[in-house]
Amino acid sequence: MIGRAQGPRVSITGLGVHVPDRVLTNDELATLVDTSDEWIVTRTGIRERRIAAPEEALTDIALPAARAALAQAGVEAKDVDFLVCATVTPDMMFPTASALLADELGAPAAAAYDLLAGCTGFVYALAQAYGMIVAGLVERALVVGGDVLSRILDWTDRSTLVLFGDGAGAVVLERVDRGGFLGFELGADGGGGMHLSLPGSGSRRTEDAEANGYVHMNGREVFKFATRVLVSSAQALLDECSVAVEDVDVYVPHQANVRIMDHAVQKLGIPRERMIVNVDRYGNTSSGSIPLALADAAADGRLTDGKLVLMTGMGAGLTWGSALLEWTEPKAA
Ligand code: UT7
Repeated sequence: MIGRAQGPRVSITGLGVHVPDRVLTNDELATLVDTSDEWIVTRTGIRERRIAAPEEALTDIALPAARAALAQAGVEAKDVDFLVCATVTPDMMFPTASALLADELGAPAAAAYDLLAGCTGFVYALAQAYGMIVAGLVERALVVGGDVLSRILDWTDRSTLVLFGDGAGAVVLERVDRGGFLGFELGADGGGGMHLSLPGSGSRRTEDAEANGYVHMNGREVFKFATRVLVSSAQALLDECSVAVEDVDVYVPHQANVRIMDHAVQKLGIPRERMIVNVDRYGNTSSGSIPLALADAAADGRLTDGKLVLMTGMGAGLTWGSALLEWTEPKAA
């Protein structure tokens, strides 16, 4: 789908993020599997990532992020009427992470559900919350994106282990009087879905019991897919919104691999300094990736009122999605 925003303006009015304390370096990984800091940095740009403590689950990481987002927006949890959590690693399949979060936050009035769209989940969730607000069904939405991918990695498989990390982010969406979302482009291609899969995680039985419960990835195929859709999705959305690529102030791609991201800026013609890069510190945090990058952009002063922000995610499904946003300075900032 592709759509240009019409009707009331809706924007992010609060942003919060949280990562686990434990830093896991490439050198430490090299003591677990046959890899090296040099290989990981050259092929991915990743230097370290955060790993959840054994007792930490997704909602433990998402809760501080959600609280920070609400505080920045000056919104009380009881006034949130929509909570969507994009994740592939909820605490458990049900109760959903979003229902648990709504309870912990004290948001009994919120419709709450989890959304599965791989690493693109956060962008999908933004579009859903946006649509609910524009339709007048809800007033204040909390969109959470986060994952504890370390729980679903095979810690003996170097081809996936080195890529991922844990982290979460949250944003509040509300009506605003200026700026806001300009449009969304979202897509999926299940035909390529098995290039990135989690066997044994649903109702499909697998022959290979050993493979169950761990991420399986055909890295080269996902790489080709990622380089293609980061460009095509962003370009399609810019065209739909009649926005020239030169007008994009802040580019926030999914942080999977710096080579994929560099390819995208080059093809799109976005100056590299406009791209947010934190894959070196966090690895690929799936649905946490884009909000974590937004928080970095905010921290270094790049997200000021009126700045045009282009976000593009891609991941399991296979899925992709872009959102274009004219940044609105959060109320309490
Ligand atoms: O959110 C979306 C999630 N996934 C992605 O975005 C991942 C997309 N794919 C990629 O980022 C890249 O394909 C990888 C980083 C996964 C791999 O990089 P590559 O340049 O495509 O390497 P490759 O798969 O072609 O492998 C090159 C070599 C292989 O050895 P041989 O067959 O050439 O002898 C691999 O076995 O590197 C080997 N290799 C490793 N060596 C050291 C694979 N993983 C490792 C490792 N350390 N961790």
